[in-house]
Parts: sequence; C-alpha cells; structure tokens
Amino acid sequence: MDWGLKNRMQSIFKADGKTVMLAVDHGYFLGPVSRLEDPRKTVEPLIPYADSLMLTRGVLRNCIDAKYNVPIVLRVSGGNSIIGKDLANEGITVSFEDAIRLNVSGVALSIYVGTDYEHQTLINLSKLVDEGQKYGIPVLAVTAVGKELEKRDARYLSLSCRIAAELGAHTVKTYYCEDFEKVVESCPVPVVIAGGPKLKNEFDALKMAHAAIRAGAKGVDMGRNIWQSRWPVAMISAIRAIVHDNASVKKASDLFITLQSKKK
Ligand code: R5P
Repeated sequence: MDWGLKNRMQSIFKADGKTVMLAVDHGYFLGPVSRLEDPRKTVEPLIPYADSLMLTRGVLRNCIDAKYNVPIVLRVSGGNSIIGKDLANEGITVSFEDAIRLNVSGVALSIYVGTDYEHQTLINLSKLVDEGQKYGIPVLAVTAVGKELEKRDARYLSLSCRIAAELGAHTVKTYYCEDFEKVVESCPVPVVIAGGPKLKNEFDALKMAHAAIRAGAKGVDMGRNIWQSRWPVAMISAIRAIVHDNASVKKASDLFITLQSKKK
C-alpha cells in the first residue's frame, strides 16, 4: 500500500486497527430522515466521539465546520430516492477531483449484488478503486440491500463482501448476521458493520456491536442506532467502549446507563 493510502486508512482505523465511524449519509436517498432533519445539530455533539464521519458532500459543505479535524469518508454514489423505482440503480455522484478538494480520507459507495443493477454498481466500484489507487484514497464498499432487509444472511453477505474485496475495495461495510464470523473470515479486507434500522432498544444495538467485534469486525459505521437514540452521546460512548476497549455488553450497558442518567 502506498504511503498516502496507508496514511488515510490509518486516520480512519486507529492504532488498535479498529474504528467507530459515524454514518450520517442517509439523506442521499431518504431525505430528512428522523433525527437528521438538521444534520449540524445532530452531528456536532458526536464529532468528538467519532473516528470518522461518513456523509455526502452537500452535508459536509453546508453543515460541518471545516475547523473539525475528523476524517471524512465521502458518500460518492447515489442518484435515486426511497420513493423512486429502484434503490439499486446507483451511479457515481462525485468526481475524484471534488473529493480531493474536500480533503477526504476515503470514499464510499454502495454495491447491489444480486439485483438488476449488480453489474453497474460493481463497475462503479472498480472504477472508484482505479481512481483511489491513483490518488491514494481508500474505497469503502457498502453491501447494500435496499428495502430487502431479509437478504441479510451469512451466505448473501459473504458473497457480496468477498466480491467487493476481489474488485479492490479497501474496506467493506456490511450488516451483522447469524454466523457473522463466516462473512469476516472469507473477506480479505477489514469489515465494519452498519447498524441498520433502529432496534427495539439501545441494549440490543450494543449486543449486536459486541457480537460483530467478537466475530472479527474491525469496527462499526453506524448511524440510526446512535443518533436516533434519545441519548446519542451515551450510545456512541458505549459503542466506543466495545470497539476500542473490548468492553463486555454489561460494561458497555453500564456505561450507557451512567451517561444516560447525566442526560448525554
Ligand atoms: C445507508 O443509508 C447508508 O450507507 C448508511 O450509512 C448505513 O446504512 C449505516 O447506517 P445505519 O447504521 O443507520 O444503518
């Protein structure tokens, strides 16, 4: 790995090789999703706890002050909406020139394996990797499932993650599932998990993060289960304890409860 690419990877993955990425890119197809109506208000208090922010260039430029020294992983795919025909029909929405201008540490796109747009989104990935290699910018591939959440099993996700890595993705973001270690073991690049839609309560999300790390995930790139919580700072702090301090579910839950009582 060339120095620039390595340096950017190390700005996202900390000295322990793990990361807590905060995903706030949802508006690119969901619009003003609940609790992210005003991105600045939601994101600013969480920045000190995030190892990187995953977001679009529009939110970055308009809602995040340039004074923050937080690594940026820029969402560079899209072109559809939740009310449109097919969420999988994504193109590349940002030039590499603009990503470099924004001083990003990585770029992210979704791939939709098994859909009508499989080929298109995999070629998007390959092109981004070519550009990323040219400029030393790592590519994060998201194994997206659109509205078909039931697709999230080890067989499908292993296939999707492995194809992303084979095409050159430097990191893969996927969903946690039963037998998750199989997904991680067959993927030769670091795997991080998305949280998915908000779970019943914060403890379920902590359990999921813990199980993913135990199965070999290198961190999380989580959104709704953090900022849709009534206590987002408590939640991201508890997630950090799991990812970076190997905290048990009980220890992380106790930390969450302590901070929650302080209204964090
Ligand atoms: C899809 O909307 C985005 O790629 C999100 O960044 C991703 O799904 C992670 O966010 P969440 O934890 O809310 O699923």
